[in-house]
Amino acid sequence: MSIAEATSSPQVPSGEVPTFTATIVVRRYDPESGEEAHWQEFAVTVHATDRILDALHSIKWEQDGSLTFRRSCAHGVCGSDAMRINGRNRLACKTLIKDLDIDKPIYVEPLKGLPVEKDLIVDMEPFFDAYRSVQPFLQPASVPENGRERNQSVVQRARFDDTTKCILCAACTTSCPVFWTDGQYFGPAAIVGAHRFIFDSRDDAGDVRLDILNDKEGVWRCRTTFNCTEACPRGIEVTKAIAEVKQALVRGI
Ligand code: SF4
Ligand code: FES
Repeated sequence: MSIAEATSSPQVPSGEVPTFTATIVVRRYDPESGEEAHWQEFAVTVHATDRILDALHSIKWEQDGSLTFRRSCAHGVCGSDAMRINGRNRLACKTLIKDLDIDKPIYVEPLKGLPVEKDLIVDMEPFFDAYRSVQPFLQPASVPENGRERNQSVVQRARFDDTTKCILCAACTTSCPVFWTDGQYFGPAAIVGAHRFIFDSRDDAGDVRLDILNDKEGVWRCRTTFNCTEACPRGIEVTKAIAEVKQALVRGI
């Protein structure tokens, strides 16, 4: 059944949003049960305008309260509900069911490359460790001339605008094949976090961050697969940011 068929159903009174049944197949894992991770199928009544997050809520609230996942803002801002949906990293709160093929089951599983704690929840600590290690905070070496403001031109601000949009959802890092095979790699999100400050004209610790990323597990491990750019729910040009950091290592900031 297509969405068009569902929405044009004669049984639906005018003005009402029609519902249909979606098959959501969730990867389940409970470390306390002693069972291996396995797939579990749920039939969920949804509206075409619902998101995967709504379907997960429906399962949790109406079918199986033990289903475990993270979410907070439900509007694409906090970055806590990144997961693999039909094999692609996405935010559950930004993925409309109508944009998926509803004739087929929709597969939902945890992000790849980080340890699974329960169901759709992964241990984010290795991800945040890498992020913290690039010193993602402003480090000016002097006080502003007027003692109050660090002025910046529009052009200077534009240089790092894209990477300010990161919400630390980990969709990029956990879509990266280098990260899957070598969990020591800093990963795209940490490099994005470093980029945001390396190219900030008010900051003076760019060389320190570049030294950190010149490590054998640093920026040179990137193989330019573009998975990260495709995965980013904020539309950040992650691969371009990584390339700019590589260039800065060769030519200077
Ligand atoms: S760069 Fe994009 S995908 Fe990566 S952590 Fe930030 S928001 Fe998420
Ligand atoms: S719940 Fe906050 S980004 Fe999805």
